Amino acid sequence: MTVLKAVIPAAGLGTRFLPATKAQPKEMMPIVDKPAIQYVVEETVGAGIKDILIVTGRGKRSLADHFDRSFELEYYLKQSGKLEQLQEILKISEIANFYFARQPEPLGLGHAISVSEKFVENSSFAVLLADDLMATNSKVLSEMVKLHNDTNKVVLALKEVKKAEVPLYGCVDFENTENKNLVRVKQVVEKPSVEDAPSNLAIMGRYIFNSDIFGYLKKVVPGKSGEIQLTDAISYYLNDHEVLGYIFTSERYDIGNKIEYLRTNIEFALQREDLRDEFLKVLAEAAEKYLH
Ligand code: G1P
Repeated sequence: MTVLKAVIPAAGLGTRFLPATKAQPKEMMPIVDKPAIQYVVEETVGAGIKDILIVTGRGKRSLADHFDRSFELEYYLKQSGKLEQLQEILKISEIANFYFARQPEPLGLGHAISVSEKFVENSSFAVLLADDLMATNSKVLSEMVKLHNDTNKVVLALKEVKKAEVPLYGCVDFENTENKNLVRVKQVVEKPSVEDAPSNLAIMGRYIFNSDIFGYLKKVVPGKSGEIQLTDAISYYLNDHEVLGYIFTSERYDIGNKIEYLRTNIEFALQREDLRDEFLKVLAEAAEKYLH
């Protein structure tokens, strides 16, 4: 079944970025001049998916506003001849069909996904975590969709991480296939200790599921933190079905962490022709000033 729907959970409280996230969703924090979630939406659309459900929570209205029309602003930009900016903001609301659902309480990633059951119906669907940004023009999601279309199997995005970083992720035990980018997932463990980790292949925030996952999500009992983990549902799913892992080596940015958030801004700015030269000078001057 081809993948035409995507779910982007965006209901987290963003406590790591307080006070910036006190009155603003963390998904709206800019990377250069675009809110983070817009990159994720553009990636989704780039993989041929046009129906996007954003799962929000309290205080997240600006997410819906961002992907909606803004008649007042459009009128102003038109009147003042700022046609390039007008095109830019019109594009945002036209890029995809947006749907919103609210997760009443932040009970974890698994719970946020279960909120999407009615939207998904019997389709296959992609899940994209907005804390994980892929390199511009990344083909990871498109490749995963292709893989799912060919095999009809659940697909997880995997990337090798340093052994010491394994406790930050869901990790997999796997079997190799004849294709070096493709593994059969045998087991998934959420945030294992370095000693207990089955490998250093970590689950990155891109998944392709079918609607069977909802039945497994219902079986998950909340973990220590009271959260319903998506990884636990995948673990139950694995008892009955085969799951594939798509290993990618291209860059991925974890904007849920301050240093990485800053690095992402620097790299994304340096990849922009309109900013690169001037910004490089600023960075060189800053390095001179602060590095001793
Ligand atoms: C979530 C998932 C984890 C995955 C990670 C990728 O964790 O639970 O399995 O490896 O995203 O970024 P979080 O970073 O939300 O704690």
